[in-house]
Amino acid sequence: MPLDDSDPDKWHMKEHTEVKHRILRKYLTTWTRIVSSGNPEIHYFDGFAGRARYEDGEPGSPLLALDVANRSADLFDIFHCTYNDYSDENYQILKEEVKDKKNSCENNTQIDEVIFNEEFEDIAIPVLDSEKYSGLPSMVFIDPFGYSGTPFNVISKIMNLQSSGNEVFFNFMVDTIRRFLDDESKEETITRAFGSSDWKSIRKYTDREKQEEEILKLYVSQLKEEAGVKYVFPFQMKHPDKNVTVYYLIHATNHFKGFKAMKDVMFNEGADDNFAYLGSDHYGYEDEQTNLFEVTASEDLRIKELRERLLSRYNGDTVSFNDILKFAYLNTDLIDTHCRKALTTLESQDKIHVDRGSSTRGFKEEYDITFRPQNQRLTDF
Ligand SMILES: C[S@@+](CC[C@H](N)C(=O)[O-])C[C@H]1O[C@@H](n2cnc3c(N)ncnc32)[C@H](O)[C@@H]1O
Repeated sequence: MPLDDSDPDKWHMKEHTEVKHRILRKYLTTWTRIVSSGNPEIHYFDGFAGRARYEDGEPGSPLLALDVANRSADLFDIFHCTYNDYSDENYQILKEEVKDKKNSCENNTQIDEVIFNEEFEDIAIPVLDSEKYSGLPSMVFIDPFGYSGTPFNVISKIMNLQSSGNEVFFNFMVDTIRRFLDDESKEETITRAFGSSDWKSIRKYTDREKQEEEILKLYVSQLKEEAGVKYVFPFQMKHPDKNVTVYYLIHATNHFKGFKAMKDVMFNEGADDNFAYLGSDHYGYEDEQTNLFEVTASEDLRIKELRERLLSRYNGDTVSFNDILKFAYLNTDLIDTHCRKALTTLESQDKIHVDRGSSTRGFKEEYDITFRPQNQRLTDF
Protein backbone atom coordinates (compact mmCIF):
# COMPACT_ATOMS: atom_id res chain seq x y z
CA MET A 1 0.00 0.00 0.00
CA PRO A 2 1.45 3.40 -0.92
CA LEU A 3 1.75 5.80 2.03
CA ASP A 4 -0.71 8.65 2.38
CA ASP A 5 0.79 12.08 1.48
CA SER A 6 0.42 13.21 5.08
CA ASP A 7 1.96 10.07 6.59
CA PRO A 8 4.86 11.18 8.84
CA ASP A 9 7.03 8.46 7.25
CA LYS A 10 6.99 10.53 4.07
CA TRP A 11 8.32 13.56 5.92
CA HIS A 12 11.81 12.53 6.89
CA MET A 13 14.45 14.65 5.21
CA LYS A 14 16.54 12.67 2.71
CA GLU A 15 19.93 13.73 1.43
CA HIS A 16 18.59 14.40 -2.07
CA THR A 17 15.85 16.58 -0.56
CA GLU A 18 18.57 18.63 1.11
CA VAL A 19 20.24 19.09 -2.27
CA LYS A 20 16.91 20.05 -3.85
CA HIS A 21 16.33 22.63 -1.11
CA ARG A 22 19.81 24.10 -1.49
CA ILE A 23 19.24 24.51 -5.23
CA LEU A 24 15.83 26.08 -4.61
CA ARG A 25 17.11 28.49 -1.95
CA LYS A 26 20.19 29.58 -3.90
CA TYR A 27 18.28 30.00 -7.16
CA LEU A 28 15.38 31.83 -5.52
CA THR A 29 17.86 34.27 -3.99
CA THR A 30 19.41 35.04 -7.39
CA TRP A 31 16.04 35.05 -9.19
CA THR A 32 14.73 37.57 -6.65
CA ARG A 33 17.69 39.83 -7.34
CA ILE A 34 17.30 39.54 -11.12
CA VAL A 35 13.54 40.03 -11.45
CA SER A 36 13.06 42.60 -8.71
CA SER A 37 15.36 45.00 -10.57
CA GLY A 38 12.52 45.55 -13.07
CA ASN A 39 9.50 44.66 -10.90
CA PRO A 40 8.70 46.08 -7.47
CA GLU A 41 6.41 43.08 -6.79
CA ILE A 42 7.33 39.47 -7.48
CA HIS A 43 5.61 36.14 -6.96
CA TYR A 44 6.70 32.70 -5.74
CA PHE A 45 4.10 29.95 -6.23
CA ASP A 46 4.69 26.69 -4.36
CA GLY A 47 2.06 24.41 -5.90
CA PHE A 48 2.94 21.33 -3.82
CA ALA A 49 4.00 23.10 -0.66
CA GLY A 50 3.77 20.19 1.75
CA ARG A 51 3.73 20.71 5.51
CA ALA A 52 6.59 23.24 5.57
CA ARG A 53 8.57 21.36 8.20
CA TYR A 54 10.03 17.88 8.17
CA GLU A 55 9.75 15.42 11.06
CA ASP A 56 13.33 16.17 12.08
CA GLY A 57 12.59 19.90 12.28
CA GLU A 58 14.18 20.90 8.96
CA PRO A 59 12.33 23.66 7.05
CA GLY A 60 10.47 22.74 3.88
CA SER A 61 10.25 24.78 0.68
CA PRO A 62 7.58 27.28 1.93
CA LEU A 63 9.78 28.34 4.86
CA LEU A 64 12.89 28.53 2.70
CA ALA A 65 11.08 30.93 0.38
CA LEU A 66 9.95 33.10 3.29
CA ASP A 67 13.51 33.22 4.51
CA VAL A 68 14.78 34.33 1.08
CA ALA A 69 12.05 37.00 0.95
CA ASN A 70 12.92 38.27 4.41
CA ARG A 71 16.65 38.44 3.70
CA SER A 72 16.24 40.16 0.32
CA ALA A 73 13.55 42.65 1.37
CA ASP A 74 15.63 45.70 0.39
CA LEU A 75 15.25 44.63 -3.27
CA PHE A 76 11.44 44.73 -3.72
CA ASP A 77 8.26 46.30 -2.37
CA ILE A 78 6.23 43.10 -2.03
CA PHE A 79 7.17 39.42 -2.25
CA HIS A 80 3.96 37.49 -2.91
CA CYS A 81 3.91 33.84 -1.84
CA THR A 82 1.17 31.48 -2.95
CA TYR A 83 1.22 28.13 -1.18
CA ASN A 84 -0.95 25.17 -2.02
CA ASP A 85 -1.39 21.60 -0.80
CA TYR A 86 -4.35 19.34 -1.47
CA SER A 87 -3.96 17.26 1.67
CA ASP A 88 -6.15 18.64 4.48
CA GLU A 89 -3.70 17.52 7.13
CA ASN A 90 -0.64 18.95 5.40
CA TYR A 91 -2.54 22.17 4.68
CA GLN A 92 -3.36 22.70 8.38
CA ILE A 93 0.26 22.17 9.40
CA LEU A 94 1.45 24.38 6.52
CA LYS A 95 -0.78 27.27 7.66
CA GLU A 96 0.58 27.14 11.22
CA GLU A 97 4.21 26.88 10.16
CA VAL A 98 3.90 29.74 7.66
CA LYS A 99 2.19 31.94 10.25
CA ASP A 100 4.95 31.31 12.83
CA LYS A 101 7.72 31.85 10.34
CA LYS A 102 6.21 35.05 9.00
CA ASN A 103 5.82 36.41 12.54
CA SER A 104 9.52 35.85 13.08
CA CYS A 105 10.51 37.74 9.91
CA GLU A 106 11.55 41.33 10.61
CA ASN A 107 10.52 42.39 7.09
CA ASN A 108 7.13 40.67 7.14
CA THR A 109 5.19 43.77 6.05
CA GLN A 110 6.72 43.21 2.59
CA ILE A 111 5.55 39.61 2.45
CA ASP A 112 2.05 38.79 1.24
CA GLU A 113 1.09 35.14 1.53
CA VAL A 114 -2.02 33.25 0.41
CA ILE A 115 -2.54 29.57 1.18
CA PHE A 116 -4.80 27.19 -0.75
CA ASN A 117 -6.00 23.65 -0.12
CA GLU A 118 -6.69 22.57 -3.72
CA GLU A 119 -5.61 20.30 -6.55
CA PHE A 120 -2.67 22.02 -8.23
CA GLU A 121 -4.10 21.59 -11.71
CA ASP A 122 -7.36 23.32 -10.69
CA ILE A 123 -5.74 26.30 -9.11
CA ALA A 124 -2.50 27.05 -10.98
CA ILE A 125 -3.89 28.91 -13.98
CA PRO A 126 -6.71 30.77 -12.17
CA VAL A 127 -4.15 32.10 -9.66
CA LEU A 128 -1.38 32.96 -12.12
CA ASP A 129 -3.83 34.53 -14.55
CA SER A 130 -5.69 36.53 -11.88
CA GLU A 131 -5.61 40.30 -11.79
CA LYS A 132 -3.38 40.19 -8.70
CA TYR A 133 -0.58 38.09 -10.18
CA SER A 134 -0.86 38.17 -13.97
CA GLY A 135 1.43 41.18 -14.33
CA LEU A 136 4.14 39.78 -12.05
CA PRO A 137 7.02 37.48 -12.84
CA SER A 138 6.20 34.19 -11.10
CA MET A 139 8.55 31.42 -10.10
CA VAL A 140 6.47 28.24 -9.88
CA PHE A 141 7.84 25.35 -7.82
CA ILE A 142 6.20 22.04 -8.73
CA ASP A 143 7.21 19.33 -6.28
CA PRO A 144 4.78 16.40 -6.31
CA PHE A 145 5.30 12.86 -5.04
CA GLY A 146 4.14 11.40 -8.38
CA TYR A 147 3.20 12.49 -11.89
CA SER A 148 -0.60 12.37 -11.90
CA GLY A 149 -1.21 15.93 -10.64
CA THR A 150 0.96 17.72 -13.19
CA PRO A 151 -0.66 17.50 -16.64
CA PHE A 152 1.53 18.88 -19.40
CA ASN A 153 -1.12 21.30 -20.66
CA VAL A 154 -1.04 23.10 -17.29
CA ILE A 155 2.78 23.36 -17.28
CA SER A 156 2.70 24.58 -20.88
CA LYS A 157 0.06 27.20 -20.08
CA ILE A 158 2.03 28.47 -17.07
CA MET A 159 5.00 29.09 -19.35
CA ASN A 160 2.85 30.89 -21.92
CA LEU A 161 0.58 32.99 -19.71
CA GLN A 162 2.42 36.25 -19.78
CA SER A 163 5.37 37.85 -21.43
CA SER A 164 6.73 39.17 -18.12
CA GLY A 165 8.25 35.77 -17.55
CA ASN A 166 6.95 32.84 -15.55
CA GLU A 167 9.44 30.15 -14.70
CA VAL A 168 8.95 26.58 -13.61
CA PHE A 169 11.17 24.51 -11.34
CA PHE A 170 9.79 21.01 -11.56
CA ASN A 171 10.47 17.75 -9.74
CA PHE A 172 9.86 15.37 -12.64
CA MET A 173 9.37 11.84 -11.32
CA VAL A 174 11.20 9.81 -13.93
CA ASP A 175 11.41 6.60 -11.94
CA THR A 176 7.69 6.47 -11.12
CA ILE A 177 6.85 6.92 -14.80
CA ARG A 178 9.45 4.35 -15.85
CA ARG A 179 8.12 1.70 -13.48
CA PHE A 180 4.61 2.07 -14.92
CA LEU A 181 5.53 2.13 -18.61
CA ASP A 182 3.84 -1.22 -19.22
CA ASP A 183 0.90 -0.72 -16.87
CA GLU A 184 -2.17 -0.17 -19.07
CA SER A 185 -4.18 1.32 -16.21
CA LYS A 186 -1.68 4.23 -16.11
CA GLU A 187 -1.68 4.98 -19.84
CA GLU A 188 -4.05 7.91 -19.74
CA THR A 189 -2.29 9.60 -16.82
CA ILE A 190 1.14 9.21 -18.39
CA THR A 191 -0.17 10.63 -21.66
CA ARG A 192 -1.57 13.62 -19.75
CA ALA A 193 1.77 14.12 -17.99
CA PHE A 194 3.64 14.22 -21.33
CA GLY A 195 0.92 15.94 -23.35
CA SER A 196 1.52 13.26 -25.96
CA SER A 197 1.33 9.50 -26.38
CA ASP A 198 4.82 9.36 -27.92
CA TRP A 199 6.11 7.96 -24.60
CA LYS A 200 4.71 4.57 -25.64
CA SER A 201 7.64 4.08 -27.99
CA ILE A 202 9.92 4.00 -24.90
CA ARG A 203 8.38 0.64 -24.02
CA LYS A 204 10.57 -1.02 -26.61
CA TYR A 205 13.68 -0.37 -24.49
CA THR A 206 14.46 -2.84 -21.76
CA ASP A 207 17.56 -1.17 -20.36
CA ARG A 208 16.66 0.98 -17.34
CA GLU A 209 19.17 3.74 -18.07
CA LYS A 210 17.99 3.99 -21.66
CA GLN A 211 14.38 4.24 -20.48
CA GLU A 212 15.32 7.04 -18.03
CA GLU A 213 17.22 8.85 -20.77
CA GLU A 214 14.35 8.62 -23.27
CA ILE A 215 11.74 9.73 -20.72
CA LEU A 216 13.79 12.83 -19.93
CA LYS A 217 14.51 13.49 -23.61
CA LEU A 218 10.83 13.35 -24.53
CA TYR A 219 9.81 15.63 -21.68
CA VAL A 220 12.48 18.21 -22.48
CA SER A 221 11.48 18.11 -26.12
CA GLN A 222 7.80 18.60 -25.20
CA LEU A 223 8.73 21.67 -23.16
CA LYS A 224 10.81 23.11 -25.97
CA GLU A 225 8.76 22.14 -29.01
CA GLU A 226 5.18 22.09 -27.69
CA ALA A 227 5.33 24.66 -24.89
CA GLY A 228 7.89 26.80 -26.76
CA VAL A 229 10.19 27.18 -23.74
CA LYS A 230 13.56 28.64 -24.72
CA TYR A 231 15.78 27.22 -21.97
CA VAL A 232 15.26 23.89 -20.25
CA PHE A 233 17.87 22.41 -17.94
CA PRO A 234 17.73 19.18 -15.91
CA PHE A 235 19.54 18.08 -12.74
CA GLN A 236 19.63 14.37 -12.01
CA MET A 237 18.76 13.01 -8.55
CA LYS A 238 19.94 9.49 -7.96
CA HIS A 239 18.72 7.12 -5.29
CA PRO A 240 20.99 7.32 -2.21
CA ASP A 241 21.94 3.63 -2.41
CA LYS A 242 20.86 2.22 -5.77
CA ASN A 243 22.08 3.33 -9.16
CA VAL A 244 18.63 4.57 -10.15
CA THR A 245 17.47 8.07 -11.08
CA VAL A 246 14.64 8.94 -8.71
CA TYR A 247 13.76 12.22 -10.38
CA TYR A 248 15.06 15.09 -12.45
CA LEU A 249 14.76 18.65 -11.29
CA ILE A 250 13.86 20.49 -14.46
CA HIS A 251 14.17 24.24 -14.77
CA ALA A 252 12.23 25.95 -17.57
CA THR A 253 12.60 29.63 -18.38
CA ASN A 254 12.47 32.00 -21.33
CA HIS A 255 15.23 34.21 -19.98
CA PHE A 256 18.92 33.60 -20.48
CA LYS A 257 19.83 35.26 -17.17
CA GLY A 258 17.60 32.83 -15.28
CA PHE A 259 18.93 29.87 -17.22
CA LYS A 260 22.52 30.90 -16.53
CA ALA A 261 21.85 31.49 -12.85
CA MET A 262 20.22 28.07 -12.45
CA LYS A 263 22.99 26.32 -14.35
CA ASP A 264 25.55 27.97 -12.05
CA VAL A 265 23.66 26.81 -8.97
CA MET A 266 23.22 23.28 -10.32
CA PHE A 267 26.87 23.07 -11.33
CA ASN A 268 27.96 23.99 -7.82
CA GLU A 269 25.55 21.53 -6.19
CA GLY A 270 26.34 18.72 -8.61
CA ALA A 271 29.01 16.12 -8.01
CA ASP A 272 32.09 16.40 -10.15
CA ASP A 273 30.62 18.60 -12.89
CA ASN A 274 27.81 16.12 -13.46
CA PHE A 275 24.75 18.29 -12.85
CA ALA A 276 23.64 15.43 -10.65
CA TYR A 277 23.33 14.21 -7.09
CA LEU A 278 24.94 10.80 -7.19
CA GLY A 279 23.56 9.19 -4.06
CA SER A 280 26.15 7.48 -1.87
CA ASP A 281 28.92 8.41 -4.32
CA HIS A 282 28.07 12.09 -4.21
CA TYR A 283 30.63 13.37 -1.75
CA GLY A 284 33.07 10.48 -2.13
CA TYR A 285 35.34 12.13 -4.65
CA GLU A 286 36.13 14.92 -2.25
CA ASP A 287 37.97 12.50 0.02
CA GLU A 288 40.01 10.77 -2.63
CA GLN A 289 43.10 12.58 -3.77
CA THR A 290 43.42 10.55 -6.92
CA ASN A 291 39.87 11.35 -7.89
CA LEU A 292 40.40 15.02 -7.14
CA PHE A 293 43.35 14.91 -9.48
CA GLU A 294 41.18 13.28 -12.15
CA VAL A 295 38.50 15.93 -11.68
CA THR A 296 41.03 18.72 -12.20
CA ALA A 297 42.57 16.99 -15.20
CA SER A 298 39.18 16.46 -16.83
CA GLU A 299 38.26 20.10 -16.18
CA ASP A 300 41.54 21.28 -17.74
CA LEU A 301 40.84 19.14 -20.78
CA ARG A 302 37.33 20.55 -21.16
CA ILE A 303 38.60 24.13 -20.86
CA LYS A 304 41.17 23.33 -23.53
CA GLU A 305 38.37 22.01 -25.77
CA LEU A 306 36.41 25.20 -25.09
CA ARG A 307 39.41 27.32 -26.14
CA GLU A 308 39.64 25.39 -29.39
CA ARG A 309 35.92 25.70 -30.07
CA LEU A 310 35.99 29.44 -29.42
CA LEU A 311 39.00 29.93 -31.67
CA SER A 312 37.46 28.10 -34.59
CA ARG A 313 33.98 29.59 -34.11
CA TYR A 314 34.99 33.22 -33.72
CA ASN A 315 38.13 33.31 -35.88
CA GLY A 316 38.57 36.97 -36.95
CA ASP A 317 35.30 38.09 -35.27
CA THR A 318 34.60 40.56 -32.50
CA VAL A 319 31.96 39.43 -30.00
CA SER A 320 30.99 40.43 -26.48
CA PHE A 321 31.87 38.38 -23.41
CA ASN A 322 28.12 37.88 -23.00
CA ASP A 323 27.98 36.24 -26.47
CA ILE A 324 30.72 33.86 -25.38
CA LEU A 325 28.87 33.03 -22.17
CA LYS A 326 25.70 32.31 -24.18
CA PHE A 327 27.60 30.01 -26.49
CA ALA A 328 29.20 28.12 -23.60
CA TYR A 329 26.05 27.82 -21.50
CA LEU A 330 24.00 26.58 -24.44
CA ASN A 331 26.52 24.24 -26.01
CA THR A 332 28.74 22.89 -23.24
CA ASP A 333 28.59 21.78 -19.63
CA LEU A 334 30.93 24.57 -18.64
CA ILE A 335 30.07 27.78 -16.80
CA ASP A 336 31.28 31.33 -16.28
CA THR A 337 34.51 30.50 -14.39
CA HIS A 338 35.60 28.11 -17.17
CA CYS A 339 34.96 30.78 -19.83
CA ARG A 340 37.11 33.24 -17.90
CA LYS A 341 39.91 30.69 -17.56
CA ALA A 342 39.75 29.84 -21.28
CA LEU A 343 39.85 33.51 -22.28
CA THR A 344 42.65 34.34 -19.85
CA THR A 345 44.81 31.67 -21.48
CA LEU A 346 43.89 32.84 -24.99
CA GLU A 347 44.77 36.41 -24.03
CA SER A 348 48.12 35.35 -22.57
CA GLN A 349 48.80 33.50 -25.84
CA ASP A 350 47.96 36.69 -27.77
CA LYS A 351 45.12 34.94 -29.60
CA ILE A 352 42.47 37.43 -28.55
CA HIS A 353 42.28 41.15 -27.84
CA VAL A 354 39.96 42.30 -25.04
CA ASP A 355 38.59 45.85 -25.18
CA ARG A 356 38.22 46.80 -21.52
CA GLY A 357 38.07 50.55 -21.94
CA SER A 358 39.93 52.07 -19.03
CA SER A 359 40.05 48.81 -17.02
CA THR A 360 43.04 46.54 -17.14
CA ARG A 361 41.83 43.15 -15.98
CA GLY A 362 38.92 40.73 -15.88
CA PHE A 363 35.90 40.11 -18.09
CA LYS A 364 32.61 41.97 -18.02
CA GLU A 365 29.57 40.98 -20.08
CA GLU A 366 29.80 44.08 -22.27
CA TYR A 367 33.54 43.82 -23.09
CA ASP A 368 34.29 43.25 -26.75
CA ILE A 369 36.64 40.41 -27.52
CA THR A 370 38.38 40.18 -30.89
CA PHE A 371 39.64 36.78 -31.99
CA ARG A 372 42.71 37.43 -34.07
CA PRO A 373 42.63 35.78 -37.45
CA GLN A 374 45.18 32.95 -37.33
CA ASN A 375 48.62 34.62 -37.86
CA GLN A 376 47.72 38.17 -36.76
CA ARG A 377 49.93 39.62 -34.02
CA LEU A 378 49.44 41.93 -31.07
CA THR A 379 51.29 44.75 -32.85
CA ASP A 380 48.51 44.84 -35.49
CA PHE A 381 46.16 46.36 -32.94
C1 LIG B 1 7.13 16.28 -2.11
S1 LIG B 1 5.89 16.95 -1.09
C2 LIG B 1 6.26 18.67 -1.09
C3 LIG B 1 7.49 19.05 -0.35
C4 LIG B 1 7.75 20.52 -0.30
N1 LIG B 1 7.68 21.12 -1.63
C5 LIG B 1 9.12 20.81 0.28
O1 LIG B 1 10.10 20.86 -0.47
O2 LIG B 1 9.22 20.97 1.49
C6 LIG B 1 4.47 16.89 -2.09
C7 LIG B 1 3.23 17.55 -1.47
O3 LIG B 1 2.29 17.74 -2.51
C8 LIG B 1 0.99 17.45 -2.06
N2 LIG B 1 0.25 17.05 -3.27
C9 LIG B 1 0.34 15.87 -3.94
N3 LIG B 1 -0.44 15.90 -5.04
C10 LIG B 1 -1.02 17.12 -5.09
C11 LIG B 1 -1.88 17.77 -6.02
N4 LIG B 1 -2.32 17.15 -7.10
N5 LIG B 1 -2.24 19.06 -5.79
C12 LIG B 1 -1.78 19.70 -4.68
N6 LIG B 1 -0.97 19.12 -3.74
C13 LIG B 1 -0.58 17.87 -3.95
C14 LIG B 1 1.18 16.37 -1.02
O4 LIG B 1 0.14 16.40 -0.06
C15 LIG B 1 2.54 16.72 -0.41
O5 LIG B 1 2.38 17.50 0.74
